[in-house]
Amino acid sequence: MNVQDRKFLDLFLVVIGLLMIFAVGLFGLSRFTATSIQHEWIAGDELARAQVQARIAPVGQVVTDPEAIQRARAAAADAEPTRTAMTGPQVYQQACTSCHGGGIGGAPVTGDIDAWAARIDQGMDTLYEHSIDGFMGDAGYMPPKGGRTDLSDEEVRAAVDFMVDESTG
Ligand code: HEC
Repeated sequence: MNVQDRKFLDLFLVVIGLLMIFAVGLFGLSRFTATSIQHEWIAGDELARAQVQARIAPVGQVVTDPEAIQRARAAAADAEPTRTAMTGPQVYQQACTSCHGGGIGGAPVTGDIDAWAARIDQGMDTLYEHSIDGFMGDAGYMPPKGGRTDLSDEEVRAAVDFMVDESTG
């Protein structure tokens, strides 16, 4: 190895060494900035904080303050969904047609004018009453509100109106 080569090799090794130190330094620096930047970003981000708060929020609360309980009750009552009343045909489709559509269990078939004539002669009030409170007749058993006790009296009356309408000549 001549002097030129020796000198070149020395310089080369020094440069390689410096480059390695530089690379390791860069690696360390990037690791450091990455962790600290991400950490700070999360700590300062409203959305991320809100999400964490939501995840660690308690499942329930015990409220002992009577006024707060009153307020919560009032709010819950306000929030309760109010069902809009169904029309006669809608009620009929949901609650009555299962029996009155095909005459199941002795039920007078809707649209059968003969079967309804004598019943209609009793007067609408009787029909309403029998539909809402239930009725045991010669033909069979008409359950209160057709078994749908969640229906309002109004809705049942509307269904009776519809059935009677369909069953008059
Ligand atoms: C489980 C079967 C059944 C369902 C469901 C049903 N009914 Fe009836 N319904 C009967 C039977 C059976 C009679 C006949 C009872 C008799 O006269 O012996 C009857 C009779 C009636 C009568 C005549 C009552 C009378 O005084 O002659 C009306 C009105 C009536 N149902 C309305 C309804 C309405 C409205 C609904 C839906 C909300 C409904 N029914 C659902 C079985 C049913």
